[in-house]
Amino acid sequence: MNQFSQIILTEDLNQFLIKIEVKYIAFAQLNELLFETSGVVSFFNDVVDFEDFKEYLSNQNVKIDTISRTEFGDFQTNTDLSDKVVRRISSQAQNPTILFEPTFGEGNLLLAGLQEFNSIEKVIGVEIYKPYIWKTKFKILAYYLQNPSKNKPSITLYHESIFDFDLNNLARNTINDKILIIGNPPWVTNAQLTTLESDNLPRKSNFKNNAGLDAMTGKGNFDIGEYITQNLIRNFQNHQGCMAFLVKNIVIKNITFDQKRNNFLIKNLQKYHFDAKKEFNASVEASLFFCEFNSNSEYFCKEVNLDANKPFENTFGWINNKFVAIMEDYEIYANIDGICPFEWR
Ligand SMILES: C[S@@+](CC[C@H](N)C(=O)[O-])C[C@H]1O[C@@H](n2cnc3c(N)ncnc32)[C@H](O)[C@@H]1O
Repeated sequence: MNQFSQIILTEDLNQFLIKIEVKYIAFAQLNELLFETSGVVSFFNDVVDFEDFKEYLSNQNVKIDTISRTEFGDFQTNTDLSDKVVRRISSQAQNPTILFEPTFGEGNLLLAGLQEFNSIEKVIGVEIYKPYIWKTKFKILAYYLQNPSKNKPSITLYHESIFDFDLNNLARNTINDKILIIGNPPWVTNAQLTTLESDNLPRKSNFKNNAGLDAMTGKGNFDIGEYITQNLIRNFQNHQGCMAFLVKNIVIKNITFDQKRNNFLIKNLQKYHFDAKKEFNASVEASLFFCEFNSNSEYFCKEVNLDANKPFENTFGWINNKFVAIMEDYEIYANIDGICPFEWR
């Protein structure tokens, strides 16, 4: 796969590249110009990337190989869903100054966040797959060519695995900022990755600290999206701000369940339903998970609809020492002796 083959060269981009005489412009001058135009820091990382890009432009018939993206849990969020997500959480996110997308892919959620929040001063993104990085950079450039007067934060996009990225350092350097973490982490389990002989895994694969046999059997299996979500909460729970993450329903259930022992400083946990089959053509249930950081810990999650016009549904979570599927019903029947039928085991 040629690393540039995913770029969509719009008419604006073509005109821009002709105008700046991309074939002749010096590397440093080009990067400076691209920063002024798009906010993207070090648009071309080095001269080799730049030379490869020029070669790609002069030979657009480059052969595109199709490689399997299964090990990367690759379900890109379309632009409509991305816009819906940011609009739905907009009033709760309230003027974030930093936008962080930890596995930004083709960049639709990142761009939707950038467009929705004028308060953003800095964007940080991480992605493992280089063709998506180019696609996203050129999308951002195309956006600012169309909308030159829009808020233009400094945008740094890292080509790195989120498992190697220093979250702790980012958290330390942004502790005075109001953060919005937005994203859709990979939809793949460690068991699937083992079958694929993939090493796209965190180093600490037994992150739930299961003991002995549990760690070696089914209980040790986890979704890497869950690992990423928990790790982000662990690192950013002391920040002002919130996170909005598209994840499998089981991930949201597990995060709420594990709150009992994690006691993360999060509140207002919400699970926004949408049709995952329609949006991702995936035969797995998924929702938008939302929570606010830097608060007293809460141990329950409200289930609502992504479509704001559909009414409130219910709440699941911990009541006393029971993890309950529908807390509203449980409260009605809790005074009846014996085991409550709504307890979630
Ligand atoms: C479910 S897709 C979602 C992409 C994007 N966040 C969106 O909302 O459309 C997951 C993305 O994670 C990327 N990815 C997979 N493993 C990764 C890793 N270890 N570090 C960074 N990105 C990774 C994939 O390449 C893919 O783009």
